[in-house]
Amino acid sequence: MSIFFVKSVAATLSAAHSDNNLNTMSTNPLLDGLTFAREPGSFALYIFGATGDLTRKKLIPALFSLFTKGIISHFRIIGFARRPWTREFFQNEARSMLDHGPARAASTAVKDAFLEKLDYISSTFDNPEGYAQIEAAAQGMEGRIFYLSTPPNEYPAIIENLGRAGHHHAPPGGYSRIIVEKPIGRDLASAKELNTQLAAWFDESQIYRIDHYLGKETVQNLLVLRFCNNIFEPLWNNHFVDHIQITIAESIGVGTRGNYYESSGALRDMIQNHAFQLLTLLTMEHPGELSAEAIRSEKVKILKSLRPITFREVNRYTVRAQYSQGVIEGEEVPGYRQENGVAPDSMTETYVALELGIDNWRWAGVPIYVRTGKRLSRKSTEIAVYFKEPPHQLFRTGGQLPPPNSLIIHIQPEEGISWNVNSKVPGYITTVRPVNMDFAYGSAFGDTTPEAYERLLLDCMVGDSTLYTRRDEVETSWAFITRILQGWSQNQTPMASYPAGSAGPEDAKALLNHRGKKWRKL
Ligand code: BG6
Repeated sequence: MSIFFVKSVAATLSAAHSDNNLNTMSTNPLLDGLTFAREPGSFALYIFGATGDLTRKKLIPALFSLFTKGIISHFRIIGFARRPWTREFFQNEARSMLDHGPARAASTAVKDAFLEKLDYISSTFDNPEGYAQIEAAAQGMEGRIFYLSTPPNEYPAIIENLGRAGHHHAPPGGYSRIIVEKPIGRDLASAKELNTQLAAWFDESQIYRIDHYLGKETVQNLLVLRFCNNIFEPLWNNHFVDHIQITIAESIGVGTRGNYYESSGALRDMIQNHAFQLLTLLTMEHPGELSAEAIRSEKVKILKSLRPITFREVNRYTVRAQYSQGVIEGEEVPGYRQENGVAPDSMTETYVALELGIDNWRWAGVPIYVRTGKRLSRKSTEIAVYFKEPPHQLFRTGGQLPPPNSLIIHIQPEEGISWNVNSKVPGYITTVRPVNMDFAYGSAFGDTTPEAYERLLLDCMVGDSTLYTRRDEVETSWAFITRILQGWSQNQTPMASYPAGSAGPEDAKALLNHRGKKWRKL
């Protein structure tokens, strides 16, 4: 498996139509020598819920990008949804989905060539007649990929009907795979139920549970950073690391998703999946080999080593809060309880902060702080690894000790890594000041970062599930999260509030203050 070297090739109309372009050398001189080695065969991709936002914002643009780069050429994309659309209507809708971002610059001819491959099945999700049309729409393609991006209450009917119609069986010489969007359940019991429904028809090797954070370049780089460099691993343990902070801050609110968000909240929406992906890749052991099973097994071991937060401990190790009215980028924004689809007395958290501990030999005693929230002062996803102080400090500036070293891994929107080290300020006396040693993706590699969904869809097409979550991974993380959810409701854990545009609730500071630490500035 080659999880790290998938690179784009030149985008031209002729390339898009050719089958021979898959080994075209990159146009980026930095990538010379690397060729695109994972050719997806022909496939039919069925999008259940094709009229929804995900298809518009992510799936169609990602598929179009793979097409223009010449990475996919023999395929059909079939929308499957309730609305009584026709093939032409779906194609026109899809054309409007290409009016944004990088797709906008493509020529009409390239767009036409792509849209020609789209088809549409109008059906309710529980109607066997809809599923009877699936095979004909595939027109001799080798693979079948079923993408579930409907509201999750439709998943059981879709899985059941796909199974009953025999679509879990691979066509001769091909494959059948199912991609499942989040949420994979809303607690341990419902996650298990969904996994059991999937397992009734599909083998685990056919199931691709998506977490789009794994499609982000900077997230994949965590393993390269750790295991492709010899300077980090010796320090990556409780002898040298003081504590870790993981931040996933957003400045957006719940927008039009109030209804969904009410049944979710920040813990389910961001921590159970995205934050735990960052945490496990950052702290897992060396997997021995780059196989999906080896990497995912190491991640599960971390999840199993998380020290459980008992009911009695939730108020000590967790903080939950909701945003109130405030100002973001000079604009007044409403509080969470005033958003559309949100109950005026809602007890759904839009912010959560946790103190976690990993009870294994490498990490015992290292507190790991995780926070995420909507309507914070800015969008920023980053991991900060703080190192211990030197055993003896020679230098003081104005009586102050220099700050301990830290390594900041910027996931988004900045993408890069900075080391904070102490340096002598030039001059006749010894004054010490912290300075940053920065690596930025943009300046090192130019503009080569593919969208997360491109990478993930491509991985599914070539049968690589490394960047998808395995059943035990999902269930182990839900077991941990469900205990916190139950603790919150049993203890009636207070719901703090924070003004939109701030760095979060005051209470979150106390989590770190207990141990004399502070959150990194947002
Ligand atoms: C989604 C959540 O999974 O991730 C959203 O449902 C959130 O609430 C989004 O806004 C964040 O993704 P990204 O890629 O912008 O960090």
